[in-house]
Amino acid sequence: MTELRSSEWYAGDDRNAYIHRAWMRRGVPSSAFEGRPQIAIANTASDLTPCNSHLDEVAAAVKNGVYEAGGIPLELPVVSLGETQVRPTAMLWRNMAAMATEEMLRANPIDGVVLLGGCDKTIPSLLMAAASVDLPAVVVPGGPMLTGHFRGEALGCGTDVWRLSEEVRAGTLSEEQFLKSESSMIRSKGHCNTMGTASTMALVAEALGTIVPGLAGTPAPDARLLEAAHETGRLAVQLVADDRRPSSFLTKANFHNAIVALAAIGGSTNAVVHLLAIAGRLGIDLSIDDFDRIGAQVPLLVNLQPAGRYLMDDLYRAGGFLAVMREVRDLLDPEALTVTGKPFVDYLEDAKIWDADVITLRGNPLQPAAGITVLRGSLAPGGAIIKPAAASPHLLKHRGQAVVFDSIEDFHARIDDPDLDIDADSVMVLRGCGPKGYPGMPEVSNMPLPQKLLAQGVRDMVRICDGRMSGTAYGTVVLHVTPESAAGGPLSIVQTGDWIELDVRAGRLDLDVAADELAARRPNQATLEGYAAPRRGWERLYVDHVLQADQGADLDFLVGASGSQVSRESH
Ligand code: FES
Ligand code: MG
Repeated sequence: MTELRSSEWYAGDDRNAYIHRAWMRRGVPSSAFEGRPQIAIANTASDLTPCNSHLDEVAAAVKNGVYEAGGIPLELPVVSLGETQVRPTAMLWRNMAAMATEEMLRANPIDGVVLLGGCDKTIPSLLMAAASVDLPAVVVPGGPMLTGHFRGEALGCGTDVWRLSEEVRAGTLSEEQFLKSESSMIRSKGHCNTMGTASTMALVAEALGTIVPGLAGTPAPDARLLEAAHETGRLAVQLVADDRRPSSFLTKANFHNAIVALAAIGGSTNAVVHLLAIAGRLGIDLSIDDFDRIGAQVPLLVNLQPAGRYLMDDLYRAGGFLAVMREVRDLLDPEALTVTGKPFVDYLEDAKIWDADVITLRGNPLQPAAGITVLRGSLAPGGAIIKPAAASPHLLKHRGQAVVFDSIEDFHARIDDPDLDIDADSVMVLRGCGPKGYPGMPEVSNMPLPQKLLAQGVRDMVRICDGRMSGTAYGTVVLHVTPESAAGGPLSIVQTGDWIELDVRAGRLDLDVAADELAARRPNQATLEGYAAPRRGWERLYVDHVLQADQGADLDFLVGASGSQVSRESH
């Protein structure tokens, strides 16, 4: 084994080594400072991130494994983001969490790290940090919650909130019944049980190779999660001995496999921005077009909400993620290595489907081509995305007139106005919701439909926005329009009444307005007033430096890596 990084703090007889050791002793044996790998456990447990609140228990299991393998486990609480609690949107803070974690891993005497995440932004921010500090790192995903039931029916986190609330607005469900379902929605510890962003990012992180294969998707209350956490603690010590860093095994091939996985599971559109951001940290040339090129023809094999019917503990029972990946094995890159040192495809041999209604066979997919489709055209020169698996087939090719909202407040103020001139063929456009505009690119693109149309039985319409959409949401929603309105994209000058053409199969999103007329248009005052203009703090830094969605919405100065070197001693 090469010299441990932590020995720069602990080795030697000088005053500084004395200080570093002395303050850490507090019951720790002297052997802790004599060449044993120091393993941080970057822990996003927080009472305000309820999906991750059980991670202290997981951390304890990791600690046992680290000790057992001869390492020293050190818990490092890191910035945590509770998707449902944090305003204006957890995405605004993803890069801050990533930056803070990266810096604390670098600043401290550690040799490797186990990353504990769960709720939507936590695994992405941890992986971005690990990639930029490039120390040996492995993820333990906190796992999904168990399925709750209401009136005899399974409740899908998020997805059923959208569905039930639409039913209330349509008048087919009483408010009383709606509120009654609230206490059944979250049955246990763990993250959302739909194929939302948390589930997606755990499975995709496993396909990427950053989780011990077979672990992702283990329900949070399942005893096997703690067993795997223990084993991952042992592995972390081995990673240091082997000097296996993110940069030593993560290549474009790993991202290829992640994109295949994303399509086969019908995963969240949010994975696109997260994977682009992680790749950016690693210097891997990944573009939104790779999602289309690699993923668009991959069949949908997982029958989970929002695209299908079941929930995450059903997926685990039915054979789990590896059984899904085995069905698309021929589409995977066999060269891509995992954090264990073995190729991902090596783990697929024994995987088996036990319930072909939850995980369908390749020959009988839920949809033949499920990946994310990239759209370009005069309304999205830098690209936009749509998830056809969650859209209505009859709207995938559509021409309609725009009904434009300048901000989310404008939307809420007018959407249920009985006089609003809108019908089922209209195209709802919401702007000012991109990374800079909101700020933070919130999950507002799946705008609720107008009450009067819901009452007529309309359940989907074409919606276009520069924001994101919850991974638990569904509908014919064009997202991540780039450049965003606040960055001067054509979205900023669309007017109500303009004709818009969407053609998903052709990959087109066009504004049917004469070029000379467009060139003469300027954003109106209400549009400009809808953009965020923070004066100080993180929001100011963010708005000044955030990149567009097609580049992962990272900050420009956070792209790439700095490694683990620190320039100076503290005394
Ligand atoms: Fe945490 Fe859905 S709110 S995973
Ligand atoms: Mg979300």
